[in-house]
Amino acid sequence: MSRNSLTKEFLPKHVSIIMDGNGRWANERNQIRIFGHYEGAKTVKRIVKEAHRQNIEVLSLFAFSCENWNRPDQEVKALFELFAESLTEQAKDLNSNNVKFNVIGDLSDLSAELQDKIKEVENVTSANTGLNLVVAINYSGRWDITNAARKLGEKVKDGSIDPSLINEQDFSEMLSLCALPDPDLLIRTSGEQRISNFMLWQFAYTELYFTDVYWPDFSEDDFRKALDSYCRRDRRFGLVAETPNHDKIV
Ligand code: IPE
Ligand code: IPE
Ligand code: MG
Repeated sequence: MSRNSLTKEFLPKHVSIIMDGNGRWANERNQIRIFGHYEGAKTVKRIVKEAHRQNIEVLSLFAFSCENWNRPDQEVKALFELFAESLTEQAKDLNSNNVKFNVIGDLSDLSAELQDKIKEVENVTSANTGLNLVVAINYSGRWDITNAARKLGEKVKDGSIDPSLINEQDFSEMLSLCALPDPDLLIRTSGEQRISNFMLWQFAYTELYFTDVYWPDFSEDDFRKALDSYCRRDRRFGLVAETPNHDKIV
């Protein structure tokens, strides 16, 4: 892969990642699943740095879905301990690297302590102007859309919006990512080729990239390969491809 193709003009502004395969990575090493999650946390640190180096504006990471609560209690408990530890450990680094940190998802189900920690890191990094790092915890696309519908319903009820005038823009503004652009590129690791209830609304025109690499093994070079694949694609948004001159009818 030539790194020359990764010129800012063609790079995605927003890269989204479904970080998958931690459990299988650990199983293959005869380790418990949580060992894979701890290795996965190290990958997060590396990829955040690489995204920053590549001038990506927004990096959104799927860390825990609403459906992941149905995993064994021990794994869920260990995952939330890992979030808390990583936040404490990373807070200073994020700030000194000019990263703006945000969490999306239904935080009301999280412990008060973790909610406070998240708010604290969001506040400390709120004025930063570098990479926007968005971590989705207790997030699902259907939750986000339902939540937006509920908020719009409240506006209709208090008379601040006329239901017959609601448009896509109004709806988008009620979603978790409202102020940020939709993802240009979605990367999913571990060989699975599905969305798993991630950003259902925002992925309308996102380019999809699947790799067999498990998340703990996902390297900076793997990330650049995904960017390179994106840079070579022709995004049409429902229009027609650019026609070479000799094919033009008039
Ligand atoms: C992704 O890895 C992390 C979370 C969903 C929290 P998995 O834990 O899903 O790993 P696999 O897919 O079982 O290998
Ligand atoms: C998606 O991975 C959720 C996260 C990466 C947080 P899963 O491992 O939960 O997805 P499925 O169950 O394979 O679809
Ligand atoms: Mg998985």
